[in-house]
Amino acid sequence: MAGMQAIDSARYLPSNTKAATDAAVTPIAAGMKGSMILKIAGQVRELIAQGRVVANFTVGDFRPEQFHVPSELSAGIRRSLDAGATNYPPADGVPELKAAIARLVERSWGMKIDPSWVCVGSGARPPIYSSWQLFVEPGDRTVSFLPMWNVGYYAHLFESDHIFVPTSADTDFFPTVEQARQAMRGARLVVINTPLNPTGTMIDPKVLEGIARALVEENEGRERPCMLLFDQVYWAITSGDRAHANPCVLVPECTPYVVHVDAISKWMCATGLRVGWAVLPPYLQGRMKALIGHMGAWAPRPEQLAAAALIDDEAALSSWFDELNQQVTARLERLYTGISRLRDDGLAVDAIAPQGGIYLSFRVNLVGRGFDSNEAIRTWLLDTAGVAVVPFQAFDMVEDSGWFRMSVGAVGLDDIDGALARLESALRSLG
Ligand SMILES: Cc1ncc(COP(=O)(O)O)c(C=O)c1O
Repeated sequence: MAGMQAIDSARYLPSNTKAATDAAVTPIAAGMKGSMILKIAGQVRELIAQGRVVANFTVGDFRPEQFHVPSELSAGIRRSLDAGATNYPPADGVPELKAAIARLVERSWGMKIDPSWVCVGSGARPPIYSSWQLFVEPGDRTVSFLPMWNVGYYAHLFESDHIFVPTSADTDFFPTVEQARQAMRGARLVVINTPLNPTGTMIDPKVLEGIARALVEENEGRERPCMLLFDQVYWAITSGDRAHANPCVLVPECTPYVVHVDAISKWMCATGLRVGWAVLPPYLQGRMKALIGHMGAWAPRPEQLAAAALIDDEAALSSWFDELNQQVTARLERLYTGISRLRDDGLAVDAIAPQGGIYLSFRVNLVGRGFDSNEAIRTWLLDTAGVAVVPFQAFDMVEDSGWFRMSVGAVGLDDIDGALARLESALRSLG
């Protein structure tokens, strides 16, 4: 307002920020760890600002210059917006999207469901958060397998007695059936993600079937069941021969215990548009709807309507998947072939052939050979080769095994070629 003297509000803030924060917030909020990936992303930005050439393999996202959303999606959003779709959507999603998702599930996996099984949210995270809220009380046992995206944060938020089951490259970083069976004993929630972030590997359907059977057996006679949170947000992005498998199709008896989580975030390259959903038995759907409604974590109406139209257009969706997979596979294969060539030349690197998602498991086998940790290797790769990667420690793995995640969502083939050349000379300079 004209003539008004503005107060310098910052003068009234506490001088000891940390003490003030700790006093004001709950111990859970105070104890939330910052994201290692975001810290690394900050370093990459700084180097690029200094004029350094850096290939950024760190972000689990798409750079729009490299991966645009389907044109049908952006046109559909514009149309819905122009038509006035700007009010609150229903808390569990617009009927058009719920029905389209039910049809997609039947078409893709042969699982016959109706729209009452679907609960839409703003991306995959609200359904994930709600699943923890639905099933987990402080001290309850929860289970996941190492490495896996973000589970540690949810276990912290819900104060669960969390078991991280270690896995290895020999099993593509998935558990054996026996490992899962043991860990599920007495647990309330087990989390499986396939295709897996960070490894770019997919679970063997036989292993998934064994785990689904073990889940059914575990729940026989139990008062409060163990639930499976099945995170399949990358299911439509596959590079190898392995098909995406669904536990409720492999072992239909496990259906009462499974919450599927999905989103357009990854397979429509639309991370910023925030449309995700859970497919869960109707006896639970109403409870998730209530949680999402009170969070206000619904997806915007125009995005929901446009996503519904594209999901229902089988021909357009299938040609979009072809285009996306061709783009992702070209990048992953270029990286994998390049790293394999360096390994065959005797350099201390390795990778797992891409299977699904936008990631490659990349190993730099130098711990104990001039480097004492993954972190030391990571900073050396960044400083010397301009290759930015994320160590598996960002996905709760503890040991310094030399494994890193490389994401291809923000790079083109030229970036990859440049990175491989710089990587080769950095490795050769070690002698
Ligand atoms: C395995 C996995 N699940 C869920 C998500 C979250 O997806 P959204 O952005 O839709 O919340 C991510 C994002 O990176 C992911 O990698």
